[in-house]
Parts: sequence; C-alpha cells; structure tokens
Amino acid sequence: MNTRPTLTLGLAGLGTVGSGLVRLLRENTEELRQRSGCEFRLKTVAVRDASRERDLPAGTRLTTDPAELARDPDIDVVVELMGGVTTAKQLITASLDNGKHVVTANKALLAEDGTDLFRQAGEKKTALLYEASVAGGIPVVQTLKDSLAGNRILSIEGILNGTSNFILSEMTSRGMDFATALRGAQENGYAEADPTLDIDGFDTAHKLVLLVRLAWGLDYPYTSMPVQGIRNLDRMDIDFAREFGYRVKLLGRARLTGEGKVEAGVFPTLVNHTYLLARVGGAFNAIRIEANAVGSLFLHGPGAGSLPTASAVLGDIVSIARRAHLLNSGFVQQVLPPASVQPAAEARSTCYLRFMVKDNPGVLRDLSGALADHGVSIAQAMQKERSENGVPLVLMTHEASAQAVRDAIADMLRADFLLAPAVCYRVMG
Ligand code: NAP
Ligand code: HSE
Repeated sequence: MNTRPTLTLGLAGLGTVGSGLVRLLRENTEELRQRSGCEFRLKTVAVRDASRERDLPAGTRLTTDPAELARDPDIDVVVELMGGVTTAKQLITASLDNGKHVVTANKALLAEDGTDLFRQAGEKKTALLYEASVAGGIPVVQTLKDSLAGNRILSIEGILNGTSNFILSEMTSRGMDFATALRGAQENGYAEADPTLDIDGFDTAHKLVLLVRLAWGLDYPYTSMPVQGIRNLDRMDIDFAREFGYRVKLLGRARLTGEGKVEAGVFPTLVNHTYLLARVGGAFNAIRIEANAVGSLFLHGPGAGSLPTASAVLGDIVSIARRAHLLNSGFVQQVLPPASVQPAAEARSTCYLRFMVKDNPGVLRDLSGALADHGVSIAQAMQKERSENGVPLVLMTHEASAQAVRDAIADMLRADFLLAPAVCYRVMG
C-alpha cells in the first residue's frame, strides 16, 4: 500500500518551461519519490487557450482561470510559469494569502514588484521559491542562500541572459547578423515572450536585482539600475575587440563598495579572452562569485530552455516537499532594507571607445585632447582604413570614471568631428 504523503500541484502556464516541468514529473517519478518521500500530483493546469491539445497526465484538469489554483483547497503548491506581471502577481498574492507555497520563474515580477510578495510569504510562513528565475538551470539562488551563507560576498559578475549570449556567440563565431541569431534563440525557446527584455539588457537587470538581494540582503531598486543592451552592437566592435584580445559579452555586475554602497549595472563588456567568462558560448550562462571565505567560484550551465529551467523549478518543489524552505530571501529579515546605490556616473572602469571621425589633420590630437581634459588616459589606440562612414578610431583607456568619459565625449560632440555616436563599452581584465 502506498503510504507516501502527496503534494498536490497547480500549474499556471504550459509553455516552454511548464511543459518541461510536466515532462520531468512524468519521466523522473521514481527519482522524485526517492529524493522527497512524496508523491507529486498535478491537479490543475491553467493556460490561455484551452482549445489546444495538451499532453497532460491522466486526471489533470485544464482551466483558463489561474485564480482557480489559488482557491482550490486541495492544492499545496502553486507553480507560476505564465510570465507577465499583472495576472502572475494576482495569482501569487491570492495563493500566498490562502497559505499555499509558490514556486515561480518570474524574475520580472520579483525584481520589479517582489517586496510585497516576500513580505506576504514571510507573514504567512509559506515558501516563495524562485531558483529558475536566475540563470535557468544553474542553482545560483540556492548557492547564495544556503551554501555561501558563511561568506561575505564581495562581487558577482555574470552572463545572465541566454538569448543575448546566444546572439553574441553566433555573431562572433559564425559571422551571423543580429536578426538571424535572435530568430535562432526564439526558435530554441530561450527568448522571453517580449525579446526586447533580453536584447536591451532588462532581463539581465531583473536577475541582477535578485542576486543583489541574495548576496547582501539589500533591496536594489530596479529602476535605478544602469542598463545597456546589445541591440545596437556593431559587428565591427566584436572584430576590433578580438584584435585587442577580448570577447564582447553582456554582463551583469554587482559589488559592494568600501562605503557599503551597491555598484551594479548591465553593460556590453569586453572580457579578456583568457577569462572563463569569455569562453561561455551559446545560450549558456555563467556566474563568477567572489566571497571572503570561499574565494572565487564559477558556476556555468544552461541559462534557459525547457528542461534546464524546469529542473530548477522541480528542485524548488522538492525542497518544499522536504520542508527545507525556511527563508525565502536567505536573510532573517523578510523585508529587506533598501540598498544605498552607487551612482552610475561614479563607477570606474577601463573602457573601449570607438569613434567614427573625419579624416582631417588634427582630429586625433583634438580627440585625445578632449579625453586628457577630463583626466582620461589612453592605454592603446588603433586607427583603421577609412570606410564610407569615416575613419574608425579605436581606443582602450586606463581606468576612468564613467562621468569623465561621458564629459569628454560631450566635448567631442561640441567640437563636431564625430561622424556617428561614440561607442563606449566597459572592459574586464
Ligand atoms: P511561454 O512559453 O510563453 O508560456 C507561457 C504559458 O503561460 C503558456 O502556456 C500560456 O498559455 C500561459 N499563460 C500566459 N498568460 C496566461 C494567462 N493570463 N492565463 C493563463 N495562462 C496564461 O513562457 P515560458 O518561456 O515558459 O516562460 C514562463 C516563465 O518562465 C516566464 O516568467 C519566464 O520569464 C520564465 N523563464 C523562462 C525561461 C525560458 O527558457 N523560457 C527560463 C527562465 C525563466 P497558452 O499555452 O495557452 O498560450
Ligand atoms: N529569456 C531568458 C534568457 C530566459 O534568454 O536567458 C532565461 O531567463
């Protein structure tokens, strides 16, 4: 006779991740029993379009009303895999209110509007788990929350968006154009329903907000984060970066300054080709964590896709089945204090600069003069053959503040020798 307890699940969303979850519940049944001591029963699944044929376990109901999951007294865990903000928030709020545990992959919601949800989960003593929200299949949430709980975290740097990394990898290694590479990411199920979140850097910013919370127990306001995506990245800069020995990656980076401020942001970044981060290709994600006890740690794995993301969702469900979910934020305070934000203009970094300039005598002098006027020192320079858009002049600077570089470029614009907007990316290593 089966005496195992049953954990009843309600699933909202049966797209890329939801269908991966259903598949894993079916394929890994015996492993799940042995690891959790529970039976998992998928009682109801909410979708938008109930007329489409769905491959669900026998006895699982289909509904178009996600709120049903929150109301059903049989359901122990609501798994939110719809995405979007409004309906997802209503569902999670109602579920927590009714004492249900919630598992979600919805980084946009948690980053932009998560404070109330975590407060509510804390008050209700229910789980609000979100391993799949950051870096798909890589267990970075659990790592920061539990495994590194004995450390002071010093910095986090990561490739956190599979779609952008896929696009950059295809552009770098196969000479593909941006639009074709994006289509490939969409066909593979990596991209968000709205891919501008991926390519404009906002998805990375959502994940970075969650990582800052987990690393330092501070609430970094999403709207304060400096974000630059890869939409306008020119292949020419990928090629110039390679000549200097770098690869271009979209990085989310955060660190705690000596003054206790959080410096965080998302930027296309030139990464020294010898670094592990530079070698992360395709839709893979990677996170480098620097902490005072463990030293430096590198996590690498699939950052998106059906089964890898469902693997993280299922890990959270098993954790609930084992009753191993004590603190949702990883900190005793369920409502985290606001982070003191380091202004983006004060961030210092080595920079890659590309200018398209007129091919006139004195232009190089004026350009380097503008940089010198703001204390920006040049480390390397490269001038290429004239193209139809002018002469590309590429510089690598020594470390400089973002404000100083911005002011120097403003002076150049006033002097009127730039033929196109200046390109400025940060450099790592
Ligand atoms: P998706 O493929 O677009 O699937 C969304 C699912 O939600 C569909 O089944 C859709 O129903 C259902 N849905 C949407 N709005 C609904 C509503 N108002 N009521 C009922 N059902 C609704 O999305 P996904 O890629 O699986 O992503 C789901 C979540 O996981 C998002 O928060 C995303 O950011 C996150 N995530 C995704 C990945 C990834 O690799 N894709 C990785 C990490 C995290 P229909 O089937 O009827 O259209
Ligand atoms: N669209 C996201 C990405 C899915 O490309 O990384 C994983 O969060």
